[in-house]
Amino acid sequence: MIKLKPIFAIAVLFFATSLVKADDGYRLWLRYVPVEDSKLMNEYRSQFTSVAISGNSETVSAIKNEIKIGLSGLLDKEVEISSTFKNQGLLIVTSSSEHKSLGISEETERLGNEGYLIIEKKINGKNTIIVASKTDIGALYGTFHFLRLVQTQQSFGKINIEESPKTTHRLLNHWDNLDRTVERGYAGFSIWDWHTLPDYIDQRYIDYARANASIGINGTVLTNVNANALILTPEYLIKVKALADAFRPYGLKVYLTARFSAPVEIGGLTTADPLDASVAAWWKSKIDEIYSMIPDFGGFLVKANSEGQPGPQNYGRNHADGANMLSTAVAHHGGVVMWRAFVYDNNVPDDRAKQAYNEFKPLDKRFNENIFVQVKNGAIDFQPREPFHPLFGALEHTPIMMEFQITQEYLGCATHLVYLAPLFKECLESDTYAKGKGSTVGKVIDGSLHNHTISGMAGVANIGNDRNWTGHPFGQANWFAFGRLAWNHNLSSEQIADEWLRMTFTNNEKFLKVVEPMMLNSRETAVNYMTPLGLHHQMARNHHWGPGPWVNVGRPDWTSPYYHRADSVGLGFNRSSTGSNAVAQYFPEVSDKFNSVKTCPEEFLLWFHHVPWNYSMKSGRSLWNELCYNYYSGADAVTQMQTNWQKVEKMIDNEQFNQVKQLLAIQAKEAVWWRNSMLLYFQQFSKQPIPNNYEQPDKTLEYYENLKFHFVPGIKGE
Ligand code: GCU
Repeated sequence: MIKLKPIFAIAVLFFATSLVKADDGYRLWLRYVPVEDSKLMNEYRSQFTSVAISGNSETVSAIKNEIKIGLSGLLDKEVEISSTFKNQGLLIVTSSSEHKSLGISEETERLGNEGYLIIEKKINGKNTIIVASKTDIGALYGTFHFLRLVQTQQSFGKINIEESPKTTHRLLNHWDNLDRTVERGYAGFSIWDWHTLPDYIDQRYIDYARANASIGINGTVLTNVNANALILTPEYLIKVKALADAFRPYGLKVYLTARFSAPVEIGGLTTADPLDASVAAWWKSKIDEIYSMIPDFGGFLVKANSEGQPGPQNYGRNHADGANMLSTAVAHHGGVVMWRAFVYDNNVPDDRAKQAYNEFKPLDKRFNENIFVQVKNGAIDFQPREPFHPLFGALEHTPIMMEFQITQEYLGCATHLVYLAPLFKECLESDTYAKGKGSTVGKVIDGSLHNHTISGMAGVANIGNDRNWTGHPFGQANWFAFGRLAWNHNLSSEQIADEWLRMTFTNNEKFLKVVEPMMLNSRETAVNYMTPLGLHHQMARNHHWGPGPWVNVGRPDWTSPYYHRADSVGLGFNRSSTGSNAVAQYFPEVSDKFNSVKTCPEEFLLWFHHVPWNYSMKSGRSLWNELCYNYYSGADAVTQMQTNWQKVEKMIDNEQFNQVKQLLAIQAKEAVWWRNSMLLYFQQFSKQPIPNNYEQPDKTLEYYENLKFHFVPGIKGE
């Protein structure tokens, strides 16, 4: 045996403990570290050290695995798992014969295919926690819910939970290219390693599926909406099948993006006209081929006739013609088509915000049943704040799939801490008035307002092959929040933040008291230092990182002045009835409110109105002074986040503390960059001073305008 010299031995020991302690974020919110509260730990240990799990499918193996690593980690003790029920403290059951003997048939009957119960019952004299469902997937979701309760230190006495998702399709959209670059991705390269697939199944694929199942996500579109037809060739389909097989036990279906011109590019046809019989036959045979390999393939997401992508309009057809042709071929396999409403053509319209409504509203009755129109939360493009998209109120016969962006294309990339649940909730809670008061966007997209049988929410993923998946440790919270809201859009931002923080960092109340408000305010803070009062699309050209109010080259609706309309009179885009009249796309209750400068909520003022610089705001300040106030408050709030974060230094893992600390310093620097650039730029038009109680910019506008950046992540080249 080799004997270590004492000093060396101490060094090794130190290194080993620091390795054990450091948390690199890979485990996400599924860390399963020992329960911190010792009283609860004792309770859980006496209740849960033996578990019975019935069934023997691949999903049941996944449940067993999760209980094994989850509960053993949380209880810091090996947990026994048996498949026959005797007298265990925790039962996980799926089959209906067991429901009968446990006397819970009535309750489980009510559950849909993905729902579950978590209840307490006395069995053989022992208080038993039962997770029950109709399907194995329901039991998997219930298992993750059970583990979340332990992770967040909840008490189980008299527990009575009945859960079913509000939407049928809860999907991540990966904008991942086949060369592993990720469009608008800030966390490294794509996690899909196409080169080593199908033979090499990276553990990451399994952990990705686990993470998604833990928050109820049940589908993933693997490829970029700016699609490459190669994904539909046998060479790639075999790789897609390998991923589908790896994800299946976790209830995660795969979907692909369909390039509309694929019949020409890889099929050898001379046209992709959706009404041409040979084109329809090509897609049918391609789709049959996919289903012969992946029987539960989810379907297609399509970006057509937008930003240069091919589509039915190239052949004089409309969106419904294109979508219907594809949907017919997937329908008998149970698949869906998600046809995106993010369209704008090469002829610049009077107002880009109006285009999707203008193109899709007339087609409302024309789409087949298994088609979603997928609509971004706002009519422009994932801005820090947008009013809800008018299409949510306008389509009655067509199910709408919500599209949120989890990746922070317009929100500082992966270096800014911006918790997005408040942004998602703001849209979901907006009232469209489509069927009178209370017709919220949430009720539109969950299908309840218009009685649709399919319903859904998609989130453009912020995931890459960075060790911690999302670049910024707090980026994980946005993936988590998206999943939780797709499952139940009535959850509050507060509850989701609380769960995530406890699971990801600690249950220490002192930590939560500091960090929870910081998270909850972070979106408003970003709006303030980027685009307050309804300003939008002021980001630098192409990469969208940092300010660019001066960007004035290229097609008009890709420039900033198109959106801010600053002049000597004032600021803002007149979309009222005296301007582009985009307000008319909303129901009267909404449109009247937005149409008047007096009743328009100030957070949307410059979205809908061109407002004079000296206009008196509700605060009593002039528009110009209010703008200054917002920009300075935003930048100051980031400094405050830094001070607050410093308070939790000793409460969490050092590596994660330091990562966030450094990123907050970048955010603080960039918030000042935003503030100074925007105010100096608009000052040219307002011709008014920045009030002298504020620290004055120490650089000139020219300095900011001349900053050059190369290879900003998320786009190819430059
Ligand atoms: C934005 C984004 C593009 C993306 C497009 C889309 O314009 O900048 O990268 O392709 O949205 O949603 O299709």
